[in-house]
Amino acid sequence: MLEARNVRVVFGGFQALDGASVRLPAGFVTGIIGPNGAGKSTLFGVLAGAVETASGEVLLEGRSVARHGPAWRARHGLTRTFQLSRELAALSVLENVLLARPKAPGEGVFSALFSRSAMRAAEEVAIEKARNLLARVDLWRLANAPAGALSGGQKKLLELCRALMLDPRIVLLDEPSAGVNPTRISEITEFIRTLQQEGMSFGMVEHNMDMIRSLCDHVYVLAEGRVLTEGRFDDVVNNPQVASAYLGSQP
Ligand SMILES: Nc1ncnc2c1ncn2[C@@H]1O[C@H](COP(=O)(O)OP(=O)(O)OP(=O)(O)O)[C@@H](O)[C@H]1O
Ligand SMILES: [Mg+2]
Repeated sequence: MLEARNVRVVFGGFQALDGASVRLPAGFVTGIIGPNGAGKSTLFGVLAGAVETASGEVLLEGRSVARHGPAWRARHGLTRTFQLSRELAALSVLENVLLARPKAPGEGVFSALFSRSAMRAAEEVAIEKARNLLARVDLWRLANAPAGALSGGQKKLLELCRALMLDPRIVLLDEPSAGVNPTRISEITEFIRTLQQEGMSFGMVEHNMDMIRSLCDHVYVLAEGRVLTEGRFDDVVNNPQVASAYLGSQP
């Protein structure tokens, strides 16, 4: 579904990724773990098209997408979650979800081509879609609340709903449990599992190993910009090299 081959990323002389390769197959939640600073978020940035590579390739459904940016990739089924920005926190939950969708007719160069009624119809379709998504995560009752007032877990669910407005086939989740009350993490886990069962694919960076264990069939361990090892979660965590990487020492 989505693949990075031998990716190198250099930030002003520092090699954040040093020949990393990962494959995220369709229908699975693929885990990416590793110590702080290993390059996990950078790798997601590369996959999404937001971080420039010094070398290497990204393939989306077998096709090289190097020259396409995040917006193109989003239109072709690949999206990722973003933390709510301060500006968005002031808007309502529903507005946040509506703003996540691709430009509707009427906003932009095509506006002259669309009638008012066509615009209104598109808006109604979008609202219905947003309503369905928010209802699934029990946020529709809070549709008019400011997004900034939500709990950490509800914000993560809202971020996921924003990504789902784009009808993705694969979603990249960078630390979906971060800032979430531990008792609420299972709600996020279950929503991801349900979406996976419906056929959606995921890449997931997480420090919460319970979440990785329960969702991921295949896990990559990144350390110092490279894939240290990969495999089933239980095999990977029992690898002494992985423990060493987390301790910051060389095996
Ligand atoms: N835009 C940037 N400019 C310069 N250095 C960067 C930039 N983004 C990341 N880095 C550096 O690249 C390295 C990898 O960062 P990255 O955020 O990918 O790590 P990570 O594995 O996601 O870590 P964490 O688990 O803490 O989120 C770090 O040393 C970081 O300081
Ligand atoms: Mg990170």
